[in-house]
Amino acid sequence: MTTTKKKLTLSLLLLSLQFFSHFPLPSIARGAGRSFTNSSGFVGSIYGVSKRKLLKDEEHFQNLDRLAHGYMTNADLEKAMKVLNRRCSSISRIYTIGKSVLGVPLWVMEFADNPGEEEAEPAFKFVGNVHGDEPVGREILLLLANWLCDNYKKDPLATLIIDNVHLHILPSMNPDGYTLRTRGNANEIDLNRDFPDQFFPINEEMDARQPETKAIMSWLKEQQFTASASLHGGALVANFPWDGTEDKKTHYNACPDDKTFRYMASLYSRSHYNMSLSKEFIGGITNGALWYPIYGGMQDWNYIHGGCFELTLEISDDKWPPAKELSTIWEYNKMGMLNLVASLAKTGVHGKVLSSDYGRPLSAFLSIKGINSTIKASETLADYHRLLVPGEVYEVIATKHGYKNKSTQILLGEEAMSLDFILDPTIPHQGSFKSSCLYPADGDGMGGFPLLEIVPGSQLQVLYVTLVIILVFLFFLIMRRVLSRKHRQSVLPQRSNIA
Ligand SMILES: *[C@@H]1O[C@H](CO)[C@@H](O)[C@H](O)[C@H]1NC(C)=O
Ligand SMILES: *[C@@H]1O[C@H](CO)[C@@H](O)[C@H](O)[C@H]1NC(C)=O
Ligand SMILES: [Zn+2]
Repeated sequence: MTTTKKKLTLSLLLLSLQFFSHFPLPSIARGAGRSFTNSSGFVGSIYGVSKRKLLKDEEHFQNLDRLAHGYMTNADLEKAMKVLNRRCSSISRIYTIGKSVLGVPLWVMEFADNPGEEEAEPAFKFVGNVHGDEPVGREILLLLANWLCDNYKKDPLATLIIDNVHLHILPSMNPDGYTLRTRGNANEIDLNRDFPDQFFPINEEMDARQPETKAIMSWLKEQQFTASASLHGGALVANFPWDGTEDKKTHYNACPDDKTFRYMASLYSRSHYNMSLSKEFIGGITNGALWYPIYGGMQDWNYIHGGCFELTLEISDDKWPPAKELSTIWEYNKMGMLNLVASLAKTGVHGKVLSSDYGRPLSAFLSIKGINSTIKASETLADYHRLLVPGEVYEVIATKHGYKNKSTQILLGEEAMSLDFILDPTIPHQGSFKSSCLYPADGDGMGGFPLLEIVPGSQLQVLYVTLVIILVFLFFLIMRRVLSRKHRQSVLPQRSNIA
């Protein structure tokens, strides 16, 4: 190393140390440091720049390689999933949702009694290794998968999950970052800043988005998830929406389902070995924006776009604990993970929405009075699964274009509640005319309803008038025939007489 190089490294090191002193260390977990380094015009922070330089430092790399000793490589991970799938083929399947920048398949393992089949059951997803340098999640997700495989029909919780939930596990969303030992992907983009954002239109063009992000986004188009969790390292806390604030300041920013999210996050932290004993976070949970706001995160996007209740779980203060500690960390998180997934079947309101005329499944929208959010019943089976805090009264409302709204008041107990809706069409299907063409293809605005009731009514009137005219016309026609026949009968004999 030349003196200038040494000097440069030293100054960068000092700069980064200075930066660290202003930030509490855990805040690096979700990534306060490397916030905005994409092409969207946000400025990269000092930490981001210096960290990248440091990462390229040989020594640093060797250090990380030493840390990764005993962790699975991407090839190991794929092999482990395939072996596990063969071992438990009746309750699992594996599939990919896309590829990383460097072409590594993003493997998912699904657990269910009928894997890959559509059932009227809630679905949950776990996503690990969003940040390449946070590998604990991918390891413990494999331990979770193994445990489920070993304990189906033996452990009641494993059986309950597999029989009643479709659990999808993506151990590594960022396999390239893992290999490179970097937070971002192979393009150095932080994937947890790469999603569309509700407050700031960063990365609005789909093409500018990373392949790993696109894979998650199209996954959510194909598969409806009731809830999910992504796993991170660098802190010990269950984080819930919103992650961002409109004014970019750090403060509590409650989403419409704040109470439900707090319930879910607390369920995790209380089930965890010692997360709820946190001194930094009361009860081991935090609102994302209160901790520090981020933009373009995966969590808020899941909730807004997919009606999927996603938590961000920071499961280990140490990002690279020695590999021999991984099984202990799995034990610490085990009950949190299992209880969170099982809560989808054990709590909340569940049911189907059908039409009263043909019993057709309706992919209706469901909402709760006083909570400004909606979820959608599934397209094919019209089943819905709404998470809610137990022990309260709710008014559940089902709406579907072309059908009358229906609402039902319920007292949700500690157990899951079943509630089906049968919706009446706005216009009874008795006329022969086709009224369905009057509806917009797939909207849910209520604006059209009054108009729709008038238009078919006047059509009916036109039909009646036409019918009456035809009848009168027919009557005259028949009368004329009858009259002329009478006339002919009286005339003909005369004629024949003549003939
Ligand atoms: C939880 O337990 C681990 C392992 O004993 C310890 O390192 C950590 O500090 C504890 N955290 C809290 C919040 O108690
Ligand atoms: C409900 O949320 C939407 C955004 O999802 C917002 O535009 C609207 O103003 C909200 N309505 C109320 C009554 O808060
Ligand atoms: Zn992270």
